Amino acid sequence: MDKKYYITTPIYYINDVPHIGHAYTTIAADIMARYKRLLGFRVFFLTGTDEHGQKVEKAAEALGIHPREHADRMVDRFTDLWRVLNISNTGFVRTTEERHKKVVRHIFQKVFEKGDIYLGEYEDWYCVPCEAYYTELQLKDGACPDCLRKPEKLKEESFFFKLSKYAEPLLELLEKQKDFILPDIRYNEVASFVKGGLRDLSVSRTSFQWGIPVPGNERHIIYVWFDALTNYLTGIGFLEDMDTFNTFWPCDAHLIGKDILRFHGVYWPSFLMSYGLTPPKHVVAHGWWTIEGQKMSKSLGNVIDPHEIVKTYGVDEFRFFLFREVPFGLDGDFSKHAIVHRINGDLANDFGNLTSRSVTMIGKFLQGKIERPEAKGGMDDFVEENTMRLINEYQKNMEVFAYHKALQSIFEIVSILNKYIDSEAPWKLAKEGNPRIKTVLYNIWNSLRIVAVLFYPFMPERSQQIWKAIGIGRSIEKVSFDEEKRFYLPDDIATIDKITPIFPRIEV
Ligand code: ME8
Ligand code: MG
Repeated sequence: MDKKYYITTPIYYINDVPHIGHAYTTIAADIMARYKRLLGFRVFFLTGTDEHGQKVEKAAEALGIHPREHADRMVDRFTDLWRVLNISNTGFVRTTEERHKKVVRHIFQKVFEKGDIYLGEYEDWYCVPCEAYYTELQLKDGACPDCLRKPEKLKEESFFFKLSKYAEPLLELLEKQKDFILPDIRYNEVASFVKGGLRDLSVSRTSFQWGIPVPGNERHIIYVWFDALTNYLTGIGFLEDMDTFNTFWPCDAHLIGKDILRFHGVYWPSFLMSYGLTPPKHVVAHGWWTIEGQKMSKSLGNVIDPHEIVKTYGVDEFRFFLFREVPFGLDGDFSKHAIVHRINGDLANDFGNLTSRSVTMIGKFLQGKIERPEAKGGMDDFVEENTMRLINEYQKNMEVFAYHKALQSIFEIVSILNKYIDSEAPWKLAKEGNPRIKTVLYNIWNSLRIVAVLFYPFMPERSQQIWKAIGIGRSIEKVSFDEEKRFYLPDDIATIDKITPIFPRIEV
C-alpha cells in the first residue's frame, strides 16, 4: 500500500508581515508532516501566499508601486521565516502564478457551465481587511464582527455561487464524516451555521482590478476566496500534473485558524462538490494567540516578530513552547515569562538533567559503551512497559492533532525515567560492582533514544543533538518510527562520553 499524506496551511495575505500567528499554523503543519514521514508516508506539505484582492491593491497603491511588485517584496518575508523555523514544506503557491490562474479560471468556468454560478446584483456591507461581506444583522454595532473595523456599503453586479443548493449535501457530508472538522467545537459551529440556511455567495467583484478576471466577462474579478481556496488544488499539480494530483487528493488536512473556518468548512467543500471533486478529509481549526494578554495588532504595536523570539530562545524552543503551552484548538497567550518558564522547567530541568545525568553515568560506569542487558529485575519491566504504553498514547494523540497531549506523554516517560534512576541508583550498583548496572543503563539509553524520536517532529535539531549525545550518528529524520519504538541494541553506537547541555537554563 502506498502511504501518502497531504497537509496544507492557509496561504497568508502578503499585506501583513508574518507574525507568531502565521508561524503557529505553519509549525503545526510541519510537525504533522515530519511525524508522517517518520511513519513512512510520502508527504506533500503545501503553504503559500494569497496575493490578490482589494487589500493588496490598496496597500500597493499607498506605497506607489504595482501590486505585483508589492507581492514580490513581501513573499520573501514569508519564505525567509519558513527557512528560519525549519519548515519542511514541499510546495509553495503564490496566487499570482500563471499555473494558479489557469486552475481558478478553469474551476470557475466549469462551475458556471454546470449552472452553479449565475449573474445577479449584490448589495451589502463589505469589510475590506477581511475581504468578506456581512449583512446588517451580522455587524457588531455597525462594525465588522471579526476585526471590528468599519465596513463599506457596496452595491455591484456580481456573479453568485449557488451556495444555498449545497446546504443539504453539506449536512450529509458532516453526517458522514464526523471528523470532517476538528476539533468538535468547530464542527458544531459549522453544522449550526449550515443548519441556519445558506445564502448564495457573491463570487465576483467589479470594484477593483487586482485579481483574476472572470472568463468571458473580464470586468469582473473573481472573489479572492474563490481564488485563494483553489490554491490547494494548484499546489499539487491540478491540470498540469494529474498523476501527482491524483496521488494526493483528497487532502488529508487543511490546517487553519478558527477565523477562517466558514471559508474552509462551508464554501470550500461546496465549490469542490459543485465541480465534482471529493472534499478534504479534515479541516483542522486551531485557536487564537494573544500577546501578554492583548489582541495582536499593528496599532497596539505588540505584534511579535518570530525572528526576535528565535534569536533569544532558539528555534526548537519556540516550536516546543507553542504546542506545550496551549491545548491545540484553544486560544493561547504568548508571554516572555511563559516561554522562559517552559524552557527552564520542562526542557532544562526535567528533560535536560535526565539526559546529562544519563550520558554522564554511561560514560563513567560503562566507559561509554552500552552493553547487552542481563536478566531483568527491579523496575525494568515497569520502565519498558510504560514507555511502550506512552508511545501508543503519543501516537493516538498525534493522529488527532492533540499535540499538547502527545507532549504530555513524552514528559511522563521522562518522569518515569527520573524515578527509575532514583530507585535503581546506578552509582550504588557501580560501587558494588553489580552487573545490573548494564541493564539499567541499557533501559535508560533505549528510552532516551525513543524520547528523542518522539520529540523530533517538534524539535528536529535538538532531537538530532540528543541522538548524537547518546552515540547515534544516523540522521533522525530518516529513521522509521516503527523500527525505533522498541528496546534494542544497535551495533553502531559511538562511545558516549561527555555532554554539553542541550537546553541551557535561561537566566532572568
Ligand atoms: O486569512 N493566532 O490569510 P491571513 C493564531 N489569505 N493564528 C493566527 C493568528 C493569531 N493571532 N493570526 C493569524 C487569510 N493566524 C487568507 C487565507 S487560505 C485559502 C486563505 C494564522 O494572512 C491562522 O492560521 O489573514 C489564520 O487562519 C491565518 O493566519 C490567517 O492568515
Ligand atoms: Mg486575517
